[in-house]
Amino acid sequence: MCKKSGNPNRVVLPTNVTPSHYTLTITPDLEKYTFLGFVEIDIKIHETTKTIQINTKELTIKFGRVEIGDKRHEAVSTTFDEARETTTFTFESELPKGDALLTIYYDGILNDKMAGFYRSSYKDAMDNTKVMGVTQFEATEARRAFPCWDEPAVKATFSIKLVVPVELEALSNMPVDMITQVEPEEKTIHFAKTPIMSTYLVAWAVGDFEYVESTTTKLKDPVVCRVYTLPGLKEQGRFACEITPKILEYFSEIFGTAYPLPKMDQIAVPDFDMGAMENWGLITYRTVALLFDEKTSDVRFKEQVASTVAHELAHQWFGNLVTMEWWDHLWLNEGFATWVGTLAVDHLFPEWDTWPTFVVDDVQRGIALDSLRSSHPIEVPVNDPHEIHQIFDAISYSKGASVIRMLSNWLTVDVFLAGIRRYLKKHEYKNATTDDLWSALSEESKIDVGEFMNNWTRVIGIPILEVSENDGVVSVEQHRYLSTNDCKTEEDETIWWIPLGVHPKPDSIADPNQTLKTRSLTFEVPQGPYLLNKDYSGVFRTNYPPSAIARIGKAIVEGSDLLGLSDRAGLVADISSLAKSGHTATSNFLDLVQYYKNEQTYVVWQLLSIRMGEITSIFADIERVHQGMQQFQCNLVDAMVQKLGWEFPEGEDYLTIRLRSTMLKTAGRAGHKATIAEARRRFAIFVSDPTQESILHPSIRQTAFEIVLTHGGEDEFRSILKYFKTAPKQDQQVLSLLALAFVQQPELIAEVHQLAISDAVRPQDIHYVLAGLSANPKARLLTWHFVRDNWSLLEERYKSSMGLLGACVKYPLVQCAGVELVKEVSEFFADKDTKNFQRALDQAIEGLNVNTAWVAREEQGLVEWLSAHQY
Ligand code: BES
Ligand code: ZN
Repeated sequence: MCKKSGNPNRVVLPTNVTPSHYTLTITPDLEKYTFLGFVEIDIKIHETTKTIQINTKELTIKFGRVEIGDKRHEAVSTTFDEARETTTFTFESELPKGDALLTIYYDGILNDKMAGFYRSSYKDAMDNTKVMGVTQFEATEARRAFPCWDEPAVKATFSIKLVVPVELEALSNMPVDMITQVEPEEKTIHFAKTPIMSTYLVAWAVGDFEYVESTTTKLKDPVVCRVYTLPGLKEQGRFACEITPKILEYFSEIFGTAYPLPKMDQIAVPDFDMGAMENWGLITYRTVALLFDEKTSDVRFKEQVASTVAHELAHQWFGNLVTMEWWDHLWLNEGFATWVGTLAVDHLFPEWDTWPTFVVDDVQRGIALDSLRSSHPIEVPVNDPHEIHQIFDAISYSKGASVIRMLSNWLTVDVFLAGIRRYLKKHEYKNATTDDLWSALSEESKIDVGEFMNNWTRVIGIPILEVSENDGVVSVEQHRYLSTNDCKTEEDETIWWIPLGVHPKPDSIADPNQTLKTRSLTFEVPQGPYLLNKDYSGVFRTNYPPSAIARIGKAIVEGSDLLGLSDRAGLVADISSLAKSGHTATSNFLDLVQYYKNEQTYVVWQLLSIRMGEITSIFADIERVHQGMQQFQCNLVDAMVQKLGWEFPEGEDYLTIRLRSTMLKTAGRAGHKATIAEARRRFAIFVSDPTQESILHPSIRQTAFEIVLTHGGEDEFRSILKYFKTAPKQDQQVLSLLALAFVQQPELIAEVHQLAISDAVRPQDIHYVLAGLSANPKARLLTWHFVRDNWSLLEERYKSSMGLLGACVKYPLVQCAGVELVKEVSEFFADKDTKNFQRALDQAIEGLNVNTAWVAREEQGLVEWLSAHQY
């Protein structure tokens, strides 16, 4: 097999030998935390060789041999290269070209690092600690479980056998073919042979499980869909189980290829590093991303489950059937799955405002990161696969998905999907690159898609459109946008293809797609308000002149249908970001907010709340601004919180539930007196009388906890800590952790820090605590000190995690400011090995600089605005 690599720096295996089929037998020992492995690999020797090199990591190789016909060649030496994670078998004589069988016996560790074949523990109903075994192989951890060619382009088929105690269940990518029993206590489960696939998608799980089941009804070959859980939890799998066949049917239709495996298992794993993993036919999840209880869960977890399930199911085609050629194209997997997952959720739940939510979440997250110099292009060279966890970020996911949305809207979603069908057909069971996707889309649309897209994926950064107007003539000019507002000429050379989205559409722009292909453009608009970037389809910021904003603002107040949800939310996102970066005065943002006094929607309020909260929080040390901002917000939310109340009528729609919790949270953070009093009243009943649990509806519980902690002390803290420790469900624990971080007293904050690294919090959950602490002005600096003082512990704990170490650095600092702090952070890491989290560190420092400059620049202006408006 030839490698298309073209990049000599890639850390890859020699291509003289390639595998076609693995027969793998794994015997785990769930008590000793080890496993025995035995693998027979059908290989092809392309050039005579004395050595075979294969990936392994933390495996003890006991024996390796090659059989060619009836001739056996035992390896005379076996050497391990720790840095490259390879084992090299050397043979006495040259192995001839042709087919051969490579057999390896080895031992492995059932580790607790959430990587490779690992163990996850939990308490059963009798409070006994139990262990299950499960795999997590992406990106390069399959080599911890079996010797293999652990590269996405080296595809093979797999026959997997698991030897397990008779009372346990075992699952893998494929259904069970047969079960054999040799010993009385042990059975061997033989799984059917997989299609040709990449190693990172192989999976299995062993443990005591139960499941709920559903089946597709619209596919020619029905697919059995099961949701597996630990004993006692299967009912919480109902929601995921119900939507899975519908999503599989939807994707089978829009992708023009039916889901190719006979079954689709999904399993909730108590210890799981990320959100979920798309192993073909056996998707693994952290519990809160798969399980949901209609009666006891916060409704936002329902949305999270739907979008995670849809994202992972999308990968069954985009990623599993057609796989990226190498990790440079990770975004192709992740950006696309994020976009099409959203498409599926919107299809299933049109009443959730999924796309406007995407505009306020993903689009903003992608743009925000890409406004920093420490960002990176979507397509980024990955030489060593260990660099991957650094691109497991908002660029690959959110910017990736956002530019796909921009492109699909530009081409129309129908044409785009037709191109996708073409791409999938052409590359199925093989690998592809970003260019292959552009080719398929270009063939379909007869437009050079690469020309449109290359600057979006190969160049760092996103544009800002500077708008000016003169007597009905509008001029726009594009530049690179930086949050530091200090773009140098040599950094400002990119001309992006930008769909302008002027609305109402001006006659003076002939191109129906309104594509700006030059630095600037002038056009005429009719009288009255107009918008750019309609529906926030494009990935850029728009800087309107005050005269244009005034007209748009009037349209907002009047409830004009010129602006849709995404437009109203997008305007808030743009102007608040431009205020932060100094492209406009922050008072202009506050002026804008006043136009939203009649706003009634969750999506827009959610963003208003975040952006006003950001000012309040980052300027927290300036008492006058902090107080004034709180007053301003109290005033804004007062009518809405009164109207919404604290009760949840039976059958209420999802968005109203979300709106209520957003408004109460905003009111609580702003110090709204009536809201605080009601939170305290309800909380007191909640803790004193277990029969009255419903006084704090699950969707409001976190908010209420947060409010009573922000305005309370030790008693509230103890009660919520107790709730956290006794809450039976992982989602209840998560929301308690997020809330506990809002405690105000330094000694209790220190207790939260200790809790975060204690046995009471699973290592996978630390980021919830950190996320909460970062939004608490009283806690964030102490939290940075905590991270600093416990650095070696955190580093050891999270060194193989995909993102948690970076989160430890970044989270405490996101809302901090101060020149001294920047210096301290840089100095602290100066003598540390930062390669595993360098990007997160750079982004944290750059973000700190942005905040610091903002506070210095705007203190005065904010005080003046607040005074002038009597706050
Ligand atoms: N394939 C990823 C997980 C992954 C990415 C593992 C890169 C190793 C390297 C999976 O599909 C994923 O994207 N999971 C997300 C959740 C999703 C809903 C965005 C996660 O884990 O955060
Ligand atoms: Zn993914």
